[in-house]
Amino acid sequence: MRKLDEKKTARTAGMSGSDERMAAGAAGVRSDESLEQDLREHGAVLEVSHSRISDSAGNVLVHDFSLAVHAGETVGLVGESGSGKTLTLRNLIGLLPEGLTETHEVLRRNADTAMIFQDPVRALDPLCPVVRQICEVIRVRQKKDRAEARKLAAVMLRRLDLPAEWLRRDPLPGEISGGQCQRVDIAIALACRPRVLLCDEPTTALDVTVQKQTLALIRDLQQSLSFAMVFVTHNLAVAAQVCEKLVVLREGRIVEQGTAAEIFSAPKEDYTRQLIAAILPVPEREKDGQHSPL
Ligand SMILES: Nc1ncnc2c1ncn2[C@@H]1O[C@H](COP(=O)(O)OP(=O)(O)O)[C@@H](O)[C@H]1O
Ligand SMILES: [Mg+2]
Repeated sequence: MRKLDEKKTARTAGMSGSDERMAAGAAGVRSDESLEQDLREHGAVLEVSHSRISDSAGNVLVHDFSLAVHAGETVGLVGESGSGKTLTLRNLIGLLPEGLTETHEVLRRNADTAMIFQDPVRALDPLCPVVRQICEVIRVRQKKDRAEARKLAAVMLRRLDLPAEWLRRDPLPGEISGGQCQRVDIAIALACRPRVLLCDEPTTALDVTVQKQTLALIRDLQQSLSFAMVFVTHNLAVAAQVCEKLVVLREGRIVEQGTAAEIFSAPKEDYTRQLIAAILPVPEREKDGQHSPL
């Protein structure tokens, strides 16, 4: 059995192999009591203001980003590819890629933050059976012994609609579907008991039907466990399903923000209008797929 160190825990909390080298940064997420107190007083579970992310050549990748997330709310970060969504999200958990730097006026991270990455398979250890991965995180993050961790893992499998059979024959990530891998990633993130869950396009790699089920599951879990979420997607139809508030990003800048209802009914910016116009609702896409002439 591998040693359970901080790095391992951070990795299994949803980070891919390439994130391991950055996992040391996760220690920066741990905040002290005074910070927790501070956050409570501000009424936000996560807050950043005037954040700027630059590369080593001094190019600014994200300009002047500000966001406050309150308990239980879901904020969507939307924008086309390359608009700065992933970098912004990684900064919120303290895991910017090497070589990038960030400055800010205020940055209040939350000790209880977990992240789900875009690629569900890469986020898992390919050589470790999946239930064992869930159990390891429960043991470390919830300080449970092996037997208790297995019991809690069984509950999570049920909750996430994953086969109970896995408790007897624990499969490797390569032996299960992409949708199941994503549910395992979600289970691992939830095993951290997060108050804030950061989701980076968690359904983009999945096929449309599984995408819809996974979104419904995330929404359900969020309502019953009442964590706050920052949900990144390039797909406004997906954002409409899960987010109460939206922040629209373009080329590293916020172009518009507001409640999802406001933004969908009366977008102020052309760019937002284009994003709305360009995206078919998820059910239409599914129908298109079914009637594909190919
Ligand atoms: N590690 C990195 N080093 C340098 N530039 C990066 C790095 N990661 C992302 N970028 C650049 O930052 C911009 C925003 O990237 P990203 O946040 O990944 O966009 P999105 O998630 O919205 O597609 C892009 O122009 C991208 O090329
Ligand atoms: Mg991205």
